[in-house]
Amino acid sequence: MTACIVGWSHGKFGKLDGETSESLIVKAASDAIAHAGIEPKDVDVIYVGNMNGGFVRQEFHSSLPLQTHPDLRFKPSTRVENACATGSAAIHMGLNTLAAGKARFVLVVGVEKMTELNSAQAGDVLIKASYVAEEANIEAGFAGIFGKITSAYFQRYGDKSDALAKIAVKAHRNGARNPFAHFQKEFAYDFCRTPSDKNPFVAGPLKRTDCSPVTDGAAAVVLTDVGTALGMNQAIAFRAAEHVNDFLPMSKRDIIKFEGPQRAWQQALKSAHLDLLDLSFVESHDCFTSAELIEYEAMGLTAPGEGERAVHEGWVERDGKLPVNVSGGLKAKGHPVGATGVSMHVMSAMQLSGTAPEGMQLPKAKLGGVFNMGGAAVANYVSILEPLR
Ligand code: COA
Repeated sequence: MTACIVGWSHGKFGKLDGETSESLIVKAASDAIAHAGIEPKDVDVIYVGNMNGGFVRQEFHSSLPLQTHPDLRFKPSTRVENACATGSAAIHMGLNTLAAGKARFVLVVGVEKMTELNSAQAGDVLIKASYVAEEANIEAGFAGIFGKITSAYFQRYGDKSDALAKIAVKAHRNGARNPFAHFQKEFAYDFCRTPSDKNPFVAGPLKRTDCSPVTDGAAAVVLTDVGTALGMNQAIAFRAAEHVNDFLPMSKRDIIKFEGPQRAWQQALKSAHLDLLDLSFVESHDCFTSAELIEYEAMGLTAPGEGERAVHEGWVERDGKLPVNVSGGLKAKGHPVGATGVSMHVMSAMQLSGTAPEGMQLPKAKLGGVFNMGGAAVANYVSILEPLR
């Protein structure tokens, strides 16, 4: 155990007309510093997680948190980018900075303003997180990548559309309990299962309800060392933090095996001296329902090809043996790319400190797992979190 989250903030996710990445950053940074109970002058180093790639014209984001308070002027700040795992990448940079003894307090802000573009334009930006030389011409943007992965999975293991619809229903049921979520309404199973005008196919077997939405939002954390954290108002410790990158081209991998995520989970559980089922919950990267399905297998909850058991037998429900995405996940909470990894850590910190919104709080949350993924199982981050005391 080397570092802790000692303050956090999470804004409402959604289509935030009137907000800019700048306004979202300033609010998230200011709220997280206040929640940590420190002064802006105490922040030593700042990381901003932002993918961008054309979502907004303002590309250079690192100094925007400095506008939170004059005492942040002249602090070293860097923008971090690792596709959809950008938020976790920024947090891991913060952990590395603490481990190197280069800071006492690190502020990490994750942000994305996606909805200035329509869905098709957003897809054109997101497809840049594929291996462009071979995969960029696939239809439907990044959804097309996961459409292809889902088709390959169905070909090997059979049609799992029932399980995918149940994952969507679970996400929206949980999201309805999360006031920060983009979608706060339940979706019926028949609606998610059946293609319709309101739920058309988007890519391969994936329908609209299988996709995370295009979302704006920001979240932030303050990190410090364990010794300092002992004197803070709240402290959620990293029991493990692992990062594994795999080859970018899907042609160089068995894409339905998710070997990078599997390795990241194995390394994290090993270094934490835990079994998967010791965890009270997992926040997992459900950019598409089929991603969550394959992640059950990668985290070791089921054997390969049997991920559907976790859904059909209720293991991943709020009251199941391993609740997955009680926040609503990316599917219902939304997936503002650069903010997502930070959001997952904040949702987990809330659960572990007993301060999650009423209805979302789990009764006995002692250990939480976070899995955040950039690209199609390319940049993989697992954190295991627990209260410091
Ligand atoms: N899930 C459920 N409902 C959704 C939705 C989603 N992902 N996206 C939009 N909707 C709803 C809207 O709220 C709206 O509902 P309303 O008619 O009741 O107001 C309706 O669907 C139409 O919204 P619109 O934005 O026009 O839909 P769209 O067809 O343009 O976009 C997707 C839908 C799925 C194509 C888009 O959300 C998308 O591209 N998602 C994937 C994003 C992505 O690739 N992220 C990176 C992953 S790694």
